[in-house]
Amino acid sequence: MKLRRGFIVIDKILKMTRIYRKVIFALLLAASSSITNKALAQRDSIDRKVDALLARMTLDEKIGQLNQYNGDWEATGPVTKSVGNKIDEIKQGRVGAVLNIMGTDHTRTFQDAAMQSRLKIPLLFGQDVIHGYRITFPIPLAEAASWNMDMIEKSERIAATEASASGINWTFAPMVDIARDPRWGRVMEGAGEDPYLGSLIATARVKGFQGNGLGSTDAVMACAKHFAAYGAAIGGRDYNSVDMSLHTLWETYLPPFKAALDAGVATFMNSFNDLNGTPATGNSYLQRYILKGRWDFKGFVVSDWGSIGEMIQHGYVKDNYEAAEVALKAGSDMDMESRSYINNLSKLVADKKVPLPLINDAVRRILRKKFEMGLFKDPYRFINPQREKTMLNRPENVEVARDMARKSIVLLKNEKQLLPLSKDLKTIALIGPLVKARKELKGFWALDVDKNEENVSLWDGMLKQAGETKLIYAQGCNITDMSKIGFEEALRAAKQADVVVMAMGEAPDMTGEAKSRSDIHLPGIQEELIKEIKATGKPVIVILMAGRPMVFNWTADNVPAILYAWWLGNQGGNAIADVLYGNYNPSGKLPITFPRSEGQIPIYYNHLNTGRPAQSDNDLNYKSAYTDLLNSPRYAFGYGLSYTTFEYRDLAFDKIIPQIKDNEDLSFSLEIANTGKYAGEETVQLYIRDVVSQPLRPVKELKDFRKIMLQPGEVRRVSFTVTRDELASYNDKLDRVTQPGTFQLMIGSASNDIRMQKSFEVVN
Ligand code: BGC
Repeated sequence: MKLRRGFIVIDKILKMTRIYRKVIFALLLAASSSITNKALAQRDSIDRKVDALLARMTLDEKIGQLNQYNGDWEATGPVTKSVGNKIDEIKQGRVGAVLNIMGTDHTRTFQDAAMQSRLKIPLLFGQDVIHGYRITFPIPLAEAASWNMDMIEKSERIAATEASASGINWTFAPMVDIARDPRWGRVMEGAGEDPYLGSLIATARVKGFQGNGLGSTDAVMACAKHFAAYGAAIGGRDYNSVDMSLHTLWETYLPPFKAALDAGVATFMNSFNDLNGTPATGNSYLQRYILKGRWDFKGFVVSDWGSIGEMIQHGYVKDNYEAAEVALKAGSDMDMESRSYINNLSKLVADKKVPLPLINDAVRRILRKKFEMGLFKDPYRFINPQREKTMLNRPENVEVARDMARKSIVLLKNEKQLLPLSKDLKTIALIGPLVKARKELKGFWALDVDKNEENVSLWDGMLKQAGETKLIYAQGCNITDMSKIGFEEALRAAKQADVVVMAMGEAPDMTGEAKSRSDIHLPGIQEELIKEIKATGKPVIVILMAGRPMVFNWTADNVPAILYAWWLGNQGGNAIADVLYGNYNPSGKLPITFPRSEGQIPIYYNHLNTGRPAQSDNDLNYKSAYTDLLNSPRYAFGYGLSYTTFEYRDLAFDKIIPQIKDNEDLSFSLEIANTGKYAGEETVQLYIRDVVSQPLRPVKELKDFRKIMLQPGEVRRVSFTVTRDELASYNDKLDRVTQPGTFQLMIGSASNDIRMQKSFEVVN
């Protein structure tokens, strides 16, 4: 009965989109046309090879290609008990891909087994290369704070060069889920809250991973995940349901996926959540209608870990037999770890529940990627011990990781220019539970290929740069417990010092998968310690490390200097020391809003205006506001200071009347001046607002930005062009259109620090 109801719903969706029939029709057509010479002649050579191979495959061999097993490495979900030996199954052609097998030795054993199968179809080796392979880079959210696409691309290029030298040919990254909820543990894995910035970063990451294209030995297939809307889990609780209007889905959550696709991403991963009542894994609207239909995606979709089988727990299907049917029909091509496909597809075909062309389509997509990667020519092309020896942890790449880490740090506060530190200080006290943290700096999703040998703590980094300055250390407290035992020693250390640097934050496993938190305050007794140290009267600098925005109001109000250092990877300590000493002038900007309290969540800059917007934080008169909490965030999207200051001047348009007519663009420029004492980089941000729109548009939308490096006293003119297309949004029919009318242009240093504005008209 339930199943029937389920199908009625699916059918409704399918009817609504008419896509299913179209897909089946197209597939049948493709299959029948495979015998005509004309069609053959039109296909490119890879498609011909795929078809030739497909023609030789038994149904069981085809189903084997859709099956992915975990290796014997770590797991992020329950591992299904092996039915027989995995190696034997590979030899029987029952496995298309494995995950969590790293290193040339290990991958060779598995590929050898695949080479003993009847058709010798090579395996794919997938891995969560999320922020570096051997060299750990900053967590993705930290890198997003750099707003530096070249650096982000470079960091993924290095990760790909290392991973591909070590047997891996597929990464389960980038995660491009928009996240407006810092309680969600996986906020650390994405690019924050903004669809525009998120799209640029998705593009940069895909380009970095896939390098010169899938044929190269240093390219790994990228995987845009998790399709879709996983970041909007209700209450920020991981794996939770998502309830979202289609308008918000298209406007906010889908753009980074589309950007990844346009950048040529080879694969997509679906997601654990249900979206408006249908699990993403069994969701035809997402996978068939949008991804493979409207967007014409030619790669393949892998399920998330066990997510096909989890449709049973969702209550969407009765058993794995139904799960396999629903998932395959909905467009999930490969089954990661649930064994629903390998155990049920053959019967589903025999029972005429799943048409063979659907299976052929999924197999074709996977084989095509294997051919594109050159795996049929040489199944061992990524398994080269010599390359593995020379490509990992190269000194020039370690330097890039250090630079990426410095560029990811955000200066939140710097009263009276307490920073950078003078080289003449006699004594600095380094206090806090994270001062000597080494492997912790890598954060969640680090692969530990380095066996934790070369992580630079803040203490290590400072020792290298302190020169004549004496450094003293006290831990003060732990991260989570409430013990004050270490306070006395910490106070003693502070009193001996000219300046106190405190390294505080979360534990690295407080963010990540299944690491959602309802309380995102700086944990334990840490803020108490900061209060007591501050009371000594010594100048205090607080460095905060975490995988998410935390709440730390007392510190924000009372401590003169604060750096947000996320989890910066192997080179974290060197990077922070570079910033503290002014060898690098901080340039990071927040990619996500920092709330004042959990009660404000979800909080994001690009919200709608409402009919009763509060004009200020004090405006409570029947306005959209809290009576016990300010509306404004603690730190806004786009915010981040520098050791120098920048002035915005002289906004000039290329036209006397600023307007966009027909297909014209609107160009303008402004001057940015470095008015401080240090060379520094400003991120000039361009926001727009569509003043009257149906449906409604946000109060601000980031549309462009420029990063510009200026010497002290230097002035430079920066130009922008706004195109009609950039002003488009989805209408009620979910078509992208630019509506004529008044738009507001806002240029500033942060979403809440607009320095110049001007209106312009779009006329038809
Ligand atoms: C995560 C994916 C990841 C997969 C394989 C899942 O639990 O959601 O993002 O790629 O495990 O490790």
